[in-house]
Amino acid sequence: MAQERLDKMIASRGAGSRKEVGQMIRAGRVTVNGQTCRDPAKKADPEQDTVCVMGTLLRDRKERYFMLNKPAGVISATEDTVQKTVLELFPASERTGLAPVGRLDKDTLGLLLVTDDGALNHALTSPRRHVDKRYRALVSGTLCADAAERFAQGIELRDGTKCLPAELFILERRSDGLIEVEVVLHEGKYHQVKRMIAALGGYVERLERLSMGPLTLDPALERGTYRALTKEEIDALFSVCR
Ligand code: URA
Repeated sequence: MAQERLDKMIASRGAGSRKEVGQMIRAGRVTVNGQTCRDPAKKADPEQDTVCVMGTLLRDRKERYFMLNKPAGVISATEDTVQKTVLELFPASERTGLAPVGRLDKDTLGLLLVTDDGALNHALTSPRRHVDKRYRALVSGTLCADAAERFAQGIELRDGTKCLPAELFILERRSDGLIEVEVVLHEGKYHQVKRMIAALGGYVERLERLSMGPLTLDPALERGTYRALTKEEIDALFSVCR
């Protein structure tokens, strides 16, 4: 395996932020092959070198992280007696401990993270952490002329709920009357895109999530299939949770 900076290697395995890990290293709490190392920039190989943090061997992540391209017709739950869940897209041998990160509606398509890392799941879905989510939608009906400005100001839903400022980009007014839009949200309320568009006079006919935080739906991933996240993708997710 390639050599990595010590502070990055330790932080990416969940031992703290880059800054906290830097302080730990400078304080002499990290050893490499038995020798105290006080230089956060020192390079080491996580497979060849023995790195200990406060006497505990730094281990590789055992948790699993997947990107699923969710199809319509499955619900974002771990089990259900009636409806098919996203976990049923994984082989039974792989399912133990896995859970979707947040929810997409049954008819929503696209990027859904699935992991058995409960702490990361909690951190990414925490309402305090405003992780960006980008959606592509096909809208019927009329969207008022000041739709983008209303999104930017923070839409009030029909039930009076106030949304955080968000972005709306009108991509195309199609010849079949549908409007193609992109929406970026910084929070995750129930049916939020559909309810925001409804507040402007439109109806969401089709909804797909394209990205969540630093993670973008892999265009090579077929609908209904999943793949493991790369190390870089996992590190990027951890970095938005600090
Ligand atoms: N907003 C919605 O309305 N539905 C989703 O599935 C996700 C965001």
